[in-house]
Order: sequence, then C-alpha cells, then structure tokens
Amino acid sequence: MSYSKLSDRYTVWPQLEQHREIWKSQTLAQLFADDTNRCARFSVSAAGIELDYSKNHITTETLQLLLEVARQADLSGAIKRLLKGEHVNGTEDRPALHTALRHTGAPTTPEQKAVAETLAKMSGLIEAVHSGSWKGYTGEKITDVVNIGIGGSDLGPRMVAKALTPYHLNKVNVHFVANIDGAELSDLLAKLNPASTLFLVASKSFSTQETRENALSARAWMLEAGCAQQDLAKHFVAISSRVDKAVEFGIAEENVYPIWDWVGGRYSLWSAIGMSIAFAVGMDNFNRLRAGAEAMDKHFAEAPLEKNLPVILGLLMFWYGEFMGSTTQAILPYAHHLALLPSYLQQLEMESNGKSVTRDGKPVDYPTGAIVWGTEGTNGQHSFHQLLHQGTSLVPIDFIATLKGHDNLKHQHRLLFANCVAQSQALLTGRSLEMAKTELKAQGFSDEEIAFLAPHKVHPGNRPSNTLLLEQLTPETLGALIAAYEHKVYTLGVLLDINSFDQWGVELGKLLGTHVNIAIETTDIPGDWDSSTQHLIRKFCSANTDL
Ligand code: F6P
Repeated sequence: MSYSKLSDRYTVWPQLEQHREIWKSQTLAQLFADDTNRCARFSVSAAGIELDYSKNHITTETLQLLLEVARQADLSGAIKRLLKGEHVNGTEDRPALHTALRHTGAPTTPEQKAVAETLAKMSGLIEAVHSGSWKGYTGEKITDVVNIGIGGSDLGPRMVAKALTPYHLNKVNVHFVANIDGAELSDLLAKLNPASTLFLVASKSFSTQETRENALSARAWMLEAGCAQQDLAKHFVAISSRVDKAVEFGIAEENVYPIWDWVGGRYSLWSAIGMSIAFAVGMDNFNRLRAGAEAMDKHFAEAPLEKNLPVILGLLMFWYGEFMGSTTQAILPYAHHLALLPSYLQQLEMESNGKSVTRDGKPVDYPTGAIVWGTEGTNGQHSFHQLLHQGTSLVPIDFIATLKGHDNLKHQHRLLFANCVAQSQALLTGRSLEMAKTELKAQGFSDEEIAFLAPHKVHPGNRPSNTLLLEQLTPETLGALIAAYEHKVYTLGVLLDINSFDQWGVELGKLLGTHVNIAIETTDIPGDWDSSTQHLIRKFCSANTDL
C-alpha cells in the first residue's frame, strides 16, 4: 500500500524537522526574557477577538516555515475555493457554504436568497410564538420550546443558547433533547404542559434514529394528552433538507423549514437549525450572531496568512501535531456561559478532521485531527489541570477569556480573569527544583523533608497556550469565535490534505446498531459474531424478557 506522506508534499519539511530540535534546549521563559516585544509580535486581532499566541513553542522562524507549508498547500487558493462554493467536499461532491448562512447584506447568490427567505419565514414563526398569536390545541399560548436533534442539530444551538443567556428574552423556555435514552425526554416531559409546548424536530437528514424516536415519543405524548391528530401541526415544526421525509413523518408542509445539502450538520447553527437560539434570544440577536461570524469570514478571506487569526490557530495545531508529538488539545473557556463550547468543538474538530485517508483516498502516514476536550474555568483547575501542569503529555491549550462580564458580581469576574491569566503564566514559567527547595526552606522544612518533597513540587513549565480575548461575550463576538474555529478546522484539513466535510466514520456504528437491535428483538444472535458481543446481547435479553 502506498501511503501519503506530508514530507513528500512539503519541500520545507526537512527544515521544520531540523528546526524543531531547538526546542530540546530552548524555553518559552527564555524567549520572553530575550524579547520584551514577544507578546505584540505574536498577537493578532480580528472581528472583536484578540489572539495572543506568544506562549507557544514558536519563533519568527517557526512561523515563517509554517507559513511556507501554507503556501505549498495553496491555502489561499483553498480558502477562495471554499468561499466561492466549489465542491470542497469531494466524497459527497458538494460545496460547504456555511458562510452563505451568515451573509447579512442583500442576497445575490441562489444560496443567499434561499437563506434570506427561510430566515424571513422563521422570523414570522418566532414573532407569532413570542407574541402569543400562535396557539396550542387548547388555545393556550406556547410557553416551552423543545429542540429535538442530535450532533450538529443539537450541539451548536444548545451551546449558543447557553452562551447568550444574558440576552434571553424569556418569552418562552427553550429545552434540548438529543439522546436515544428515553430518560432525557421523559425527565423533560414530566415538567411540561402539552398544551403549551412546541417541538422543533431538527434533522438535516430526517433519518437519524435518535431524533425520529424522540419525535415519535413526543407525538405520542401529545396525542395521549388529548391533542387531536389535526392539531399536531400547532405543536410540531421541522428543520430538514428532506422536506419530503418530514412531511411523510407527519409534519405539516408549511411547518417545515429547509436547510440544504451544501450545509454540513456541524456547520448549521446559523441556519433554521438555530431556530431554538432565536426562540431564546430573538431574531435581532440571532442576526447579530450571524453578523459576528460574517465579520470573521471577511477576515479569513482577506487577511494575509501571517495576520489571519484562524490560519494561525490552524498552523499552530499543525506544528504541535506533526512535529511536537501532541495528539490532543484542551479548550478552556473562562466563562460559565461558554461551558458547552468544548463539547461543541469536539464535534466540529473531531468529526471534521478525525480521518485516516487523504482527499483522494490514500492512507495517511501522519497524525490527523487532535483529540479535543476541556471544561469551563475555573472548574478544571480543581480537576485535570494537575496533568496539564505536571503530567507527561504535551497539551496545547486555548484559554478563552472576556474582559467584561455581564453580571453584577464584578469582583468575581476579576478573580475569574486573574485565574485564567495565572494558569497560562504558571504553565509557561513553571517552578524549578531550586525554587521549590527555597520555598520549602522558607517554610521551615528540614533538609531531609526538603529533599523528599521538592521534586513533587517542581512544575516543568514551558507548556504552550493561546489566549483568545473577547471584550465581552456578545452575540457578535460569539459568532466570530465560532467562525474562527470553523475556519481553523478547514485550514488544518487543507494542510493535512483531508476532507473536513464528510463523516463516514460514524456510519458503521449506526449500521451495526440496527443489526444488534434486530438481534435483541428476535433473540436470534448470529453465531459468527465475536463472543463479547454475543455475551452482552444475551445478558440484555435475559434481563429484559418482557421486551
Ligand atoms: O452521526 C453523525 C451525524 O451525521 C452528524 O454529522 C450530524 O450533525 C448528526 O449526525 C445529526 O444528523 P441529522 O441532522 O441529519 O439528524
């Protein structure tokens, strides 16, 4: 089998390999000491976001070499192809035109026109529900909206709805249900009144098992409560690229809002898939979110590579993944309202770039997408930050902080920010053995105790991080932040020569899930399945003889 090698693709590869050697002796602390301008040198701003990437294992030369990789990959051409709507998703033979979803000017392309029409229709629905003119089957107004969807039809809207909590209009309560585990839906339904509940069935394909089953259960709940079949239209709206399937499912055609093949599920929160966001914060704020993303799109399209914020984010992860042996990245938002950002980015990054073949189908011999994880600060400090400070893995970190909070507890916002900065500072400077010994001596420990304790108190330091600074978490800065990550993911995909817009890896599990379900239903377990799978199915069957 012939493998695809990045070392064959980029002539600058040997120089990068040689260049990485300096990091065996060079420290970040020394680089900061040698260059008081380092922070300004390695900072870039766009669309209300400042990226300070000075605390990374890079020098001006590293950046030049990485930019040369970008040139040899024709990243600028690839950005143009994406934005022009060329078929960058080769295996599905489609464009990836999520940028058309946040075009706020007068529509000129067919895609922009379709988006504008759909948003206008959506605006009418939001207004009707918010004003109370949309009535449920008993004539009551809607108080609760439930988004039923999973993956891209859940994570983005759920994350943004929480992130924009200070902008909630509180005209309706917005809820999310994703899991096939009936516990999630039934726990929620127990708190709701069917007469005043509206379900949004969000599914691009309208064939996703979880969403269909939850929607069926929600429909049964409505009927059991006394809603007549012909009144279901007052309680169900769908968002899908398969209008036919939504109608066949029983949703009134006028209640189906389209999305299109040229929008990937994990890039769809800007479309009618984001309807739950608009229910929470209103159309004006939804449009502000779109405008923030559009500003970042403009920057991605126009800024030179060396000043391009998403490109820099992508180049850094390329450097860590391909040359520094890192397989993971932590996302640490120091903002409670961004608590769901890490799980949203897990899908965006890992479903996009977790691939093993190149765009033309050759197996790769190099690492692709990193494992992305994280949680809100400061919670992580009392949990996994131990490993970040003293563990043996190289984990590049994105710290995300806001200069201004929204609440009245200003002193807590100051403490939050101080913690964020202190974490990146501690990771950078560390604490040497000498320092640990001096501190212990000052605390009155004996020589013997110091010899034992000091090594445990050493922080190696020299650990890399970015800080993304937002003036405040507003719809605009949030939109720009999400778009920056979308474009970072594309940048990485181009550099790694992979298709960031398909997700074939999720298919096998879905298929086998169906087969296993049939085996359980029929108790006919194929004898040639592995003994572990057979055993687990048998155990389930004997525990559930009533199914
Ligand atoms: O299973 C993966 C996936 O296909 C995601 O890519 C997608 O966001 C999610 O399922 C939900 O898909 P749909 O919107 O079609 O229900």
